[in-house]
Amino acid sequence: MSEENSKIPKHIAIIMDGNGRWATLRNKYRTSGHKAGVESVRKTIRQASKIGVKWLTLFAFSSENWQRPEKEVSMLMELFTRALKKEVPELHENGVRLSFIGDLSRFSDGLRKRMKTVEDLTKNNKKMVLTIAVNYGGRWDIMQAALRLAHALNKEQLKESDINEHSFEQYLCLNDAPHPDLLIRTGGDQRISNFLLWQTAYTELYFTQTLWPDFDESSLNKAVEEYANRERRFGKTPMQVKEES
Ligand code: IPE
Ligand code: IPE
Ligand code: MG
Repeated sequence: MSEENSKIPKHIAIIMDGNGRWATLRNKYRTSGHKAGVESVRKTIRQASKIGVKWLTLFAFSSENWQRPEKEVSMLMELFTRALKKEVPELHENGVRLSFIGDLSRFSDGLRKRMKTVEDLTKNNKKMVLTIAVNYGGRWDIMQAALRLAHALNKEQLKESDINEHSFEQYLCLNDAPHPDLLIRTGGDQRISNFLLWQTAYTELYFTQTLWPDFDESSLNKAVEEYANRERRFGKTPMQVKEES
């Protein structure tokens, strides 16, 4: 697989699921599954960048995940904080721009500051944009966009007649990225779990039984190969799609 392959998705989004089950299968605590999952994150970032993916968006913590036992939540926060410290130098060296999406107001000032520092440090990197969704929910995203749009209307920064899908999107997270071409969910469940609801309207969905800690370079290649065989029609007929290509 190489960068010249035109069927490489520009933007891949991933629901990294199955850490808990991976650990339970080994009679370990769920948290050891999360730890093992960090290595899959590393492998995936490296491989995605290598094959020429330009945007990679990873679902790390959903707005619903706060409902988990307090110990698991605090361990996930700790892992995230540690990874932020440890992984950034190599990502920066490799030309990765980092960005965080979600309701960040729920995090401590220290963690928010660190995320901002990382975004500022890497903002001019061009190889790939890596977005981490933390305390993210697709419904929250659409709501916050609607609220900000209402605010702009009130302030008369725009008129009702200016509102359309394109202008609305400017208020959503990921507004500077193309919509995901491919959404991968590991762990075997076939649902979106409140991830990117608006942005995945026409995304190709790929579900795999592989548990996240077992996901590696070849798993990513497999998903991308399957993507390459899909026909994206966007409402058109197969004939029209063939004529255009
Ligand atoms: C995904 O793995 C990680 C997060 C949601 C943070 P899970 O922890 O959901 O693993 P399973 O689904 O219980 O196996
Ligand atoms: C989705 O996984 C969220 C993340 C991977 C961060 P969950 O394990 O929370 O999803 P549900 O609750 O099974 O739908
Ligand atoms: Mg899960």
